[in-house]
Amino acid sequence: MTISENQILRADDLYHVYDTEAVDGNIVALRGIYIEVKRGEVVSVVGPSGSGKSTLMKCLGGLMKSSAGDVFFEGKSISRLTAAELLNLRQHTVSFIFQDSNLLPYMNVLNNVALPLKYMKVSPRQARREAMDLLERLGIKGQAKMLPNQISGGEKQRTAIARALITKPKIILADEPTGSVDPVTSRSILNLFREIIDEVSVSFLIVTHSREVAGFADRSLELVDGRFVAEHGTGIDMSSLADTRKIIIDATGNITLPDEVLSVIGGPGVFETEKVEKDNISITRVTETINDSKTKDEEVALFCPACGNKYEDFDVDTCLKCGALR
Ligand SMILES: Nc1ncnc2c1ncn2[C@@H]1O[C@H](COP(=O)(O)OP(=O)(O)OP(=O)(O)O)[C@@H](O)[C@H]1O
Ligand SMILES: [Mg+2]
Repeated sequence: MTISENQILRADDLYHVYDTEAVDGNIVALRGIYIEVKRGEVVSVVGPSGSGKSTLMKCLGGLMKSSAGDVFFEGKSISRLTAAELLNLRQHTVSFIFQDSNLLPYMNVLNNVALPLKYMKVSPRQARREAMDLLERLGIKGQAKMLPNQISGGEKQRTAIARALITKPKIILADEPTGSVDPVTSRSILNLFREIIDEVSVSFLIVTHSREVAGFADRSLELVDGRFVAEHGTGIDMSSLADTRKIIIDATGNITLPDEVLSVIGGPGVFETEKVEKDNISITRVTETINDSKTKDEEVALFCPACGNKYEDFDVDTCLKCGALR
């Protein structure tokens, strides 16, 4: 595959399996994920609880090794990096924002923000000066000397954003960044992201179960059961399809199509096999929808597929409780 100059992050065929002691076996949290994030792009991954969002973030950021597949930063595979190179990548290229902000409780706001620079051997004085500049830009200079438990949830998230920005990363991976704050604060944090993107050239990958947060992104990918099932937005780039793409058929015969391939073939449906021989299969669509012969009443789900909430209204297309698509 050719690497676009603008590509910051790409993952190819990511699988992740958690080994568990459970009688029903290991948990397959990611099942063949392909994702690409370009310079300055905001991409969201939206999915219900347990769909694999945090697992994806950890694998993408090099915090956890995926069971199969690879992650590339600016075209460079992280599985081939030495420990020192991986550390360098984490310090200079990628930053994280977590749902609960992950601030060190015994350190004041200023020192929490300055900490990544101290690890990079920047002098404490210079680190504090840069941290103070960021606190001022994010409107929390007055809280600089306070401890995390003395500030509000929104202020904690602003502190976490400042800490993520201080290393001037190329991409910020945010796992439910507004998950622990109220809707008004959530909106102000999203506006802040927008201002940051306009000011500095940084990409965002945000995972969320909130449709509102997903709507803020340029592009939104829908994750269900460790697979992308749909892509929404305007900046969808189909050009990568000109290259050969891998399609995975696992041991149980399930086929995982990359989301762009699914989009090009016109979405899910019923397909007929035309040719089946060793190492080769070709299929052709026979009907548009899987439930082709059913009436409208039967086609519309009565319960939310993500949280089980009952839809009160026939015409609503998102769940009022969890925001998942009907
Ligand atoms: N350390 C672990 N050991 C075993 N299974 C795990 C582990 N972490 C996550 N899982 C399982 O992997 C699947 C995906 O979990 P993950 O935390 O990635 O989901 P999520 O989409 O982030 O959910 P949420 O919205 O609740 O944060 C779930 O079935 C979960 O139970
Ligand atoms: Mg999670």
